[in-house]
Order: sequence, then structure tokens, then C-alpha cells
Amino acid sequence: MKEPIISVRDLVSKFGEQTILHDVSLDIYPREITVILGRSGCGKTTLVKNILQLFQPNSGSVKIFNKEVTTMDELEFNSMLSKIGMLFQNGALLNSLTIFDNVSIPLEQHTELSVDIIARMIRVKLKLVDLTQAENMLPAELSGGMKKRAALARAIALDPVILICDEPSAGLDPLTSASLDELILKLKNLLKMTIVIVTHELASIHRIADRIIFLDEGRVLFSGTLQEAKKTSIPEVETFFRVGKFG
Ligand SMILES: Nc1ncnc2c1ncn2[C@@H]1O[C@H](COP(=O)(O)OP(=O)(O)O)[C@@H](O)[C@H]1O
Ligand SMILES: [Mg+2]
Repeated sequence: MKEPIISVRDLVSKFGEQTILHDVSLDIYPREITVILGRSGCGKTTLVKNILQLFQPNSGSVKIFNKEVTTMDELEFNSMLSKIGMLFQNGALLNSLTIFDNVSIPLEQHTELSVDIIARMIRVKLKLVDLTQAENMLPAELSGGMKKRAALARAIALDPVILICDEPSAGLDPLTSASLDELILKLKNLLKMTIVIVTHELASIHRIADRIIFLDEGRVLFSGTLQEAKKTSIPEVETFFRVGKFG
């Protein structure tokens, strides 16, 4: 069995009186695509934000690269964050900056590289996401799918070991969504990234997922490989894989 690259144990997270995550434990394995799924409001975004310490969990443990992050000091945590790319649900690009400048932000913030090298790195990423022609365009001039790809280029600007995407295909048409899947598979296969994706699009899950974590009201209802998920008799999971909806 592979060693997990992210390991969550007994995570409890509350907003005020409301408990959002109840003793969540899960493992994310290197170089796999793990899909986190569950109905709207079940705590997926909260989980991701807890893993990344954007929210402090109330209790429990989160280990990334085998290091406890809930008690890590800010300096150490920030250096770890540079190895993790994030693409959020409303992962907005800065509207006043060109695509090129948007992608340059993490490189300027986290590295001391020269302007020339940064420019070269940006162009490699823009080529990867097929946006070479758009480098001087503003976000408003791009289609929804192109914006997603630009945000993805920014998320991988620092060549992260782990990429976390929260509903990357929300609001995209099926064709655009399929091409985003292709791109995500490319990041896994070509760049050996570990990828965590929140999505509930069944077609996409079949295309990309190695492993599934199914949340229900802040609890892990199922975790296992895609093959195991398709065969499970847990009713909620079975229903989802049969009809692509949460029943
Ligand atoms: N900032 C917040 N303050 C209070 N409650 C929140 C906040 N963010 C999310 N919640 C609540 O936490 C629950 C889980 O939300 P979320 O993690 O965004 O779900 P999901 O991403 O699965 O749709 C929901 O009931 C939501 O209303
Ligand atoms: Mg969410």
C-alpha cells in the first residue's frame, strides 16, 4: 500500500453551533486523482479549506507530506503551500490584469526568479493549457472554459506536487468540461501531480477518478477506488453511480 500524501484524522469543523464535519478521516494517495463528492452543502469546500488551513478545524489532525499542519508555524506552512496548487469554485482571475500577468502572480510572490525566467515559466504553462494566443488578453475577453484554463495555469505556476480543485467544471458546458478533464489527466500523467477534485459530474468522475471519497452531511460515507465505488451497496453511493444524482 502506498503512503498517503495527505492524511486527515478525526477532523471536526464547526461554524458556530453547527458541526459541519464530524470526525472525518481520509487519505489521499500520491499521483492519483481523488474525487470528493457529495450533495451541495455536505461540507466539501469546508473540508478542502480545513486541509489547507484556510479555516482552522476545531479538532483533529491533518498531515501533508507526513507533517502535521494544524500546529505548524506560519513560515513553515507558507513554504509548504508553495507546493500545493489551488483552483477554487470562484477562482476569479484579476480582471484588470492580462492572462500573462495573472499567471505571474504566484511566481512573483513565492520566488526570486528573474523576469526572463518567470516569463518563460508562464509561457510553458500557458502552452500546456492551450492559451498561448491569449497571453495579452484580459479575463473579460475569454470564454468560461478559457478562464478556467487560465486559472488552472495560475494554480500550477509553481509546479505544485498537489493540485486541489473545487468544482472546476461548475458552469461549463459538457464539451468544455470534457476538455478540462483531458487537461487534468495530462497534469497527472505528464507532470505526476497528485490531484484532488471536488465534483459531482458523473461523466467526469468516470473519465478521471482513481479514488472516490463520498461525503454525506459532513461524514465520510464511502472511500475507495472508482471500481469499488461502482460496486458498493451503500445506498446513497449506489444511487449516485446509477443515476448521477444524489437521490
Ligand atoms: N462561512 C460560513 N459560515 C457559516 N456556515 C457556513 C460557512 N461556509 C459554509 N457554511 C455551511 O457549512 C455547510 C457546508 O458548506 P460547504 O462546505 O460549502 O458545502 P459544499 O462545498 O459541500 O457544498 C453548509 O451548511 C453551509 O451553509
Ligand atoms: Mg463547495
